[in-house]
Formats: sequence, structure tokens, C-alpha cells
Amino acid sequence: MNHSGKHSNPIIRQNRQAYSRIAAEWLRRRDTDFDHAFHDRCRELFLKHLKGRRVLDAGCGLGFDSLAFAAHGLAVTAADIVPEFFAGIQSPPHEISSVAMDISAPCFRDGSFDGIYLFASFLHIPRDLSGPTISAFERLLAPGGVLFIGHVNSDKGLTEYQVDNLLIENNPAQCFCHPPRELESMLNAAGFALLAVEQYRPAQYPSPCAVQNGLAPYQVVAGK
Ligand SMILES: C[S@@+](CC[C@H](N)C(=O)[O-])C[C@H]1O[C@@H](n2cnc3c(N)ncnc32)[C@H](O)[C@@H]1O
Repeated sequence: MNHSGKHSNPIIRQNRQAYSRIAAEWLRRRDTDFDHAFHDRCRELFLKHLKGRRVLDAGCGLGFDSLAFAAHGLAVTAADIVPEFFAGIQSPPHEISSVAMDISAPCFRDGSFDGIYLFASFLHIPRDLSGPTISAFERLLAPGGVLFIGHVNSDKGLTEYQVDNLLIENNPAQCFCHPPRELESMLNAAGFALLAVEQYRPAQYPSPCAVQNGLAPYQVVAGK
């Protein structure tokens, strides 16, 4: 982000706009659309490897995972590019810090976290920023810290795809996918070692978008 608060990358700007437009609709659907069982499994995988208490939920959306981490006794920082999403996590009794932030340009001191959790948010980072973003996460983690990425590959070999109607008609968002091996190479290049790779699937899988683009979700945990 530059000093005027505008995002210089046009894709990040477009995705921020797309998510800003759906904040109210997403809140309306929050009790029906959230796949609790899928998220529970992914958080468990992360928690199995987490050693400290300080967790960054990067691209937190409405913050269900942030709430679950806080209920688990963790010190949670919830970050998203759309601050309207923080409404449900800001009121007491939750002790969650919320930060409006582009996750490709994080604004924390080195070593601030023991774990960083990205669920379906890294896929919105443009490919040319994905390596530098992983390196930035490595710097934010304390020694022994862990990074979770809930990501997506395309069996059709796509490197990117567009969601045309993000929750509402004519609301395009850009997404980027990587085969697990490519993500592993980026993690290694940034100084991470791979700790786990899983292929958990959401209950509604495959969605029409997954079929169209050959999308296969996967999850990685990497350690610093
Ligand atoms: C598919 S949603 C996932 C939200 C949440 N992690 C969950 O699983 O419910 C993607 C989230 O990433 C956020 N996002 C997209 N691009 C971002 C960026 N560059 N920086 C921070 N957040 C971003 C969106 O605003 C949205 O909340």
C-alpha cells in the first residue's frame, strides 16, 4: 500500500473492490455458507505443528478461524484488505486485534508471530508477488514458527482463473493457483521446510467453479 492508502497493484485493487462489494451479503450468509467441518480439519492440522501463541490469520474474511483460534487461547491478529469484515470479531469478549492490510505487504515487525494462517487468501495474491509474499511471512515468523497455506491447484494446468460472480452477479475476482511442488519450491527458497501436505476437501466439492477450472484444494504446513 502507498501512503495515500491506495493499492498500487491493479489485481489487488480489483480483488479488494470485489470483496468490499460483498461484505453485507457475506454477513447475511455467514450462518449457512461457512463449511465448519472443513475449516476445523485445516485448523487442527495447523495447531498440530504450532508451538507458540501468537497467530496471524492473514486474509481472515469474517474471522471464523480467528474466533476459533482465540477460543483455543491463542493471541490472534486478524488481517484483511477489507476492514468491513471485522465487524463480528471486534466486540468483547473476543480479544482479537484486527488490522486492515494487504497481505502481500504486511506491516509487522520481524519475528512477531509463532504461526501464520492463510485459508483461501494466498490464492488472491498475483503470481509475481507470491514468492516475495512468502519471504515476507518468513521474516514475520519467530524461529520455529509455522506457516499454513490452504491453497489450490488446477488439474487443467491453469496458473490463474477469474471468479466472474463473487457472491453477486458481475463481481469479478482474480485467483492464482500453484501445483504443490511449485509452492514447495517457493517455500524452500524462502527458507521454509515442508512439514505436511494434505488434500482435505470442502463438503460441497467440487463447486461449478472447481469443475470449470479443474481446481483441487490442498493444504501445506511449513516450518521456519
Ligand atoms: C476466500 S476469502 C477467505 C476468507 C477466510 N480466510 C475464510 O476462510 O473464511 C479470501 C479473503 O482474502 C481477502 N484478501 C484478498 N486479497 C487480499 C490481500 N491482498 N490482502 C489481504 N486480504 C486479502 C479477502 O478480502 C477475503 O476476505
